[in-house]
Order: sequence, then structure tokens, then C-alpha cells
Amino acid sequence: MNPTRIIIDTDPGVDDALTFLLALASPEIQLEALTTVQGNVTVEKATRNALSVLELAHASHIPVVRGTSHPLVKSPHASGEEVHGASGIGKSNLPEPKSKPLPQHAVDYLIERVLAEPNALSIFPIGPLTNIALAIRKEPNFAKAVRELVIMGGAIRSGGNITPLAEFNIHEDPHAAHIVFHSGIPITLIPLDATYKCLLTSDDIERLNKINSPIARFVRDATATYMDFYKKYEGFNGCAMHDPLTLAAVFAPELFTFENLYVDVDISGGISTGKTFADFMKVLKKPANIKVALDVRGRDFVEMFIERMEALSALSGVPAAEDGG
Ligand code: BDR
Ligand code: CA
Repeated sequence: MNPTRIIIDTDPGVDDALTFLLALASPEIQLEALTTVQGNVTVEKATRNALSVLELAHASHIPVVRGTSHPLVKSPHASGEEVHGASGIGKSNLPEPKSKPLPQHAVDYLIERVLAEPNALSIFPIGPLTNIALAIRKEPNFAKAVRELVIMGGAIRSGGNITPLAEFNIHEDPHAAHIVFHSGIPITLIPLDATYKCLLTSDDIERLNKINSPIARFVRDATATYMDFYKKYEGFNGCAMHDPLTLAAVFAPELFTFENLYVDVDISGGISTGKTFADFMKVLKKPANIKVALDVRGRDFVEMFIERMEALSALSGVPAAEDGG
């Protein structure tokens, strides 16, 4: 079968960076571009991080395109430093990238690529939905031509991670999420209900680092700050693999429990702003607009992630024992 052709729209971000590596390590996926958006960090840092991680993985041929610097209506979140580190990718300290982003704006790039090949490209938004909403508004034919969106975002039955009710990506630009959810594009949503079941542990990091490679070291260093955050606030030695889990919708859909539901987002401006909710009881009598991952076999996914990172690391590394390190 031909690989699924995807563009990742992203705000890297530790788990965003791991998503690029997982895409490159997955033969079922053809990563065609990264478009950037502000979220975990500014769009400048997000773009730099996207370029640096691709360089680390010898994948600079994949274009990076810079997108929006502000949400549609609200002010940007102050800083994701405590979660993702000052750079956005933990303690990884990657060199300044040699490659440059394309000169175009990400919104125009997305429109051009999608309209050039209707129904061929899927977009995986793993940051705030600002670029996608703007593409929908700018080009009326965009929504009809996107094959699918697989979005990391929302908290359906789960509590939130940026407010008690809301998940970060949706809360960061709730108005964009509202436009996207009602666009008619086929959507799969991977909310916190599923992603919090996918915990990468310090033992997993140790196992991966038995291979002495820049990729294994990057996964260790990038997740260090993220793990400190989870230890401090959630009390466990590990971190949730929010964004990488989106890719399992391509290569391991059997891991998920999906339900087709009518889903909306609160943009009323009150305490529940950015809260995503599903009409389980069908009280609104509206047709389902989103396929929601309500559950996942999380440990099975994390095992697959580690195996694929081991394979990617082995391409550029040697077993630590043979190297003396
Ligand atoms: C989402 O927020 C960001 O911090 C992560 O990169 C992920 O996309 C999880 O709520
Ligand atoms: Ca993200």
C-alpha cells in the first residue's frame, strides 16, 4: 500500500519534535512538509526548532514553512518554558540550523499544496489551529480538498491541562478550533483522554540510549525538562506522548477506541473557554462531525514508538557497549 502523505502543522515543542522523528521512522507515512505556528513557543522558535530537528535526522530536504505568530482573537499564551524548556525542545541544545524556511507563508503554502492535489494530502495539526482556520477562511475550496485532519487537541471526558477544563492546543486558539470543527473536513481528534494513556518513562529513555546515537541522545535531552514538569505536577517519572500519538491513527488504528460524535468548543469567553465537548446523548440532534479517540492501548503505542526510535537511532549509531559509552 502507498504511504499516507502528510503535512504536519506544528509548534515544536518537545512532543512535536518526537512526532517528526516518528514520522521519519514510519514507512506507512510520507512526511511532505512542516508548517509552523506559535503555541508552545513563538513562531520564530518553532520554525528554528523544526529546521534543527530535521537536520538532526538528515531530513532537510523536507520543507519547513513559517506560519502565524498570533491566535485569531486572543493573546498568545505567555510561555511554555516550564513544560518545553526555554528553546522549546528541552535540554537538547541543537546547533543553529543551516537550512532556511521557504519564503512563503504557511497558510498560502497549505492552500497551494492542497489545491494542487485535491484529496491527496492529510494534515496533522499538533499545535493551535490558527493556520488551518486561516486557510479555510482564505480559500473557499480548501476544506473540500483536504483529505483528512488528524488533530491532537481537546479534552472530551478528561479534565484540561492548561485550565481545569481545556486542553492547550484548543485553548490557545479556540476561535480557530471552532472554524475547523465546523468546516466539513473529515476530522479525527486525538484528545487528552487518549494521550494521557501514552506515557514515555525514564526506563524507556534508558533502553533507547543503549544505542549510542544522536537521535537517542536527542530524545533523552529533549524530554528531560518535560519529564521534570510531569514529575512536579503529575507525580510520575515520564511524560505524555500527546503529539506522536496522532501518527498511530495511520500505522496502528487498531489501538484506538473511536466514536463518531458531534463535537464543539466553547468560545463564549467564560471560565470554560476552549473546552471541547461531545454530545454523547445526542440532545442537540446534530450529525457527528468528528471521529474521536476516547481510549487507546497506550503502552502498546509507547512500545511501537521506542522500537521505531531504536531503528532510526541504529541508522546513525552503534550499541553503547561497542562504543565504550
Ligand atoms: C499539546 O500541547 C502542547 O504542549 C503539546 O505539544 C501538545 O501539542 C498537549 O496539550
Ligand atoms: Ca504541539
